[in-house]
Amino acid sequence: MPTPEARQAALKADPRLDAYFSDEVERRRVTREMFDEAAAGYDEAERWTGLGTGPWYRREVLRRIGLRPGMHILDVAAGTGLVTVAAQGLVGREGRVIALDPSPGMLGELKKKLSVETLEGYAEDIPLPDASVDFISMGYALRHVGDLDRAFAEYFRVLRPGGQVCLMEISRPGSSIGRVLLFGYIRGVVPVLSRIAGSRADVGRLWEYYGDTIDAALEPEPIMSSLRAAGFSDERCPVTFGIFREYLARKPEAGAV
Ligand SMILES: C[S@@+](CC[C@H](N)C(=O)[O-])C[C@H]1O[C@@H](n2cnc3c(N)ncnc32)[C@H](O)[C@@H]1O
Repeated sequence: MPTPEARQAALKADPRLDAYFSDEVERRRVTREMFDEAAAGYDEAERWTGLGTGPWYRREVLRRIGLRPGMHILDVAAGTGLVTVAAQGLVGREGRVIALDPSPGMLGELKKKLSVETLEGYAEDIPLPDASVDFISMGYALRHVGDLDRAFAEYFRVLRPGGQVCLMEISRPGSSIGRVLLFGYIRGVVPVLSRIAGSRADVGRLWEYYGDTIDAALEPEPIMSSLRAAGFSDERCPVTFGIFREYLARKPEAGAV
């Protein structure tokens, strides 16, 4: 297990993102502004990129990991609600879904599609009581969280014993040809396609940032190590096509060693 200092160093923001912000306060302001600006066009750009591979993939991941009718789920970084919609369909009327996001613009789009509880806030400070949910999901936002150690400590606190986390993320392709194709697509093709499709919102700036955050994304090991340090067990990270990852972990049952 790395020392806390080594883990903190591995989790530190990549200097390639220095062009966007210089500290956490600025990161929060700049990213919230970008997501607010792009909110109305986010779903459409997501459809063009397919990089979250759409609502079907999100639902399939949650179902496979064990989200069932009646469960209580917190969807962190809910955005326009692409994971939240899938979660609501799986937990049904007897379940409870809470959507958390710092961007009022993104939550505004979510509220147009869904009637669920929403909370404006950050993964690092979750305004919920201890042990209040069975499941935490987060779709495509690991790259935007400034302090993963703090966020995972919050996930551990609000989860009931035995509860699970499921963090979907895109990782940097391992091969150089994979990187050329992926970044050419995100930075070149997607903004043009969304303009042709008549997107009302400015997604260009967000997608440029999106590509840079994938380029600067953390390797899986510091993320798994941060989950372990928060107290999670059974952590694992299946990967599909070399880029789609799910970071999964469980809060031990009460009394488990
Ligand atoms: C790429 S969107 C993902 C939205 C949705 N989960 C999906 O699957 O499409 C990333 C979201 O993360 C949110 N976000 C950024 N920093 C965050 C933080 N520290 N804690 C929680 N959410 C954050 C943004 O406001 C944005 O809505």
